[in-house]
Amino acid sequence: MEPSFDENETNQLIKYMRGGGWVTEFKKTQEFSEMVRDYTKSKFCSIVSNGTVSLYIALMACGVRKGDEVIVPDYTMIASPNAIVLAGAKPVFCDIEKATLCLDFELFKKLVNPKTKAVMLVTVNGRYPTKYMDIVNFCKENKIFLIEDAAQSFGSFYKKKHLGTFGDIGSYSFSAPKIITTGQGGALVTDNPELYEKIRKIRDFGRENPGNDHYLTLGWNFKFTDLQAVIGIEQLKKMKFRVKRKKEIYKLYTKLLRNNNKIELIPTNLEDTSPWFNDILVEKRTELIEFLKMSNIGTREFYPALHSTPVYNIRKEFPITEMVARKGLWLPSSVKLTDEDIAYICSKINEFYK
Ligand SMILES: Cc1ncc(COP(=O)(O)O)c(C=O)c1O
Repeated sequence: MEPSFDENETNQLIKYMRGGGWVTEFKKTQEFSEMVRDYTKSKFCSIVSNGTVSLYIALMACGVRKGDEVIVPDYTMIASPNAIVLAGAKPVFCDIEKATLCLDFELFKKLVNPKTKAVMLVTVNGRYPTKYMDIVNFCKENKIFLIEDAAQSFGSFYKKKHLGTFGDIGSYSFSAPKIITTGQGGALVTDNPELYEKIRKIRDFGRENPGNDHYLTLGWNFKFTDLQAVIGIEQLKKMKFRVKRKKEIYKLYTKLLRNNNKIELIPTNLEDTSPWFNDILVEKRTELIEFLKMSNIGTREFYPALHSTPVYNIRKEFPITEMVARKGLWLPSSVKLTDEDIAYICSKINEFYK
């Protein structure tokens, strides 16, 4: 997932430093935040230090606290449930559907109870649940906050509307492996002015406005830096090309691996989804990883079933998550990969199974 930069980032960084910038967040962060807001067609956007604190801020803004439960898929990056714990609430794990690797609506409904304050809907790898709109409507009807963890979904849509913009607050990550990166970074989007006001204060020590010391609420320092924003602005300008390239890469992998009956591809609607990673389900995963490593091809196993990790250690069964956690493999996915690179990777995978 090597990130990709060119002379534009370098030149703009030099220009910024020569222009006497203070490095910390200011006009460049504002500009980057407006660009993310416009790209996602949201009403408000706030840029923060990373895609973990963005989730924490979202939970705090929704008033999640001790005694509350937040439903979260068992298959996600650890930051999703950990942010819930950080907010003082209890993460309630839910299994996913195999078709999309996202939250299973029917199972989700069974977990809802009077303590359920919010759901953290993870749009895994730019995909969305089969019953996406049912989840959105159910949350509205039952007054459950819908926080979309769209860390992996920047550049992905549902019917031309950006993922992360269907619930109360959406959260993105700009960490190094993401489609665009600022090294570390995150964003929150919302259409709700009251939630935005809360977000704005929570990320800046609870201040009424930047630079004054009237503390209206509890808050911390989750701010950004203009140095990163300079990079983010240049990265964002490349989104059109990157979305196109991500889809091309996915299509090529699909074409070259389709006939291999030891590999299961996850159905992906490329009209909507801009796959962040190329994810497949395989047999003999450990051996395949070792085999590819010998040809200098890096891969990565899917996340584990989080409920079963030592940090949560919950004795429950989530069969779909457990199955994909056992079989799932991410293949090289950087936008820097050439078609020849992908053909080589696929030839090695096919060779392994022969
Ligand atoms: C689904 C999900 N949520 C949250 C995060 C955390 O983002 P960050 O690494 O920016 O803190 C990630 C990071 O990959 C993620 O994939």
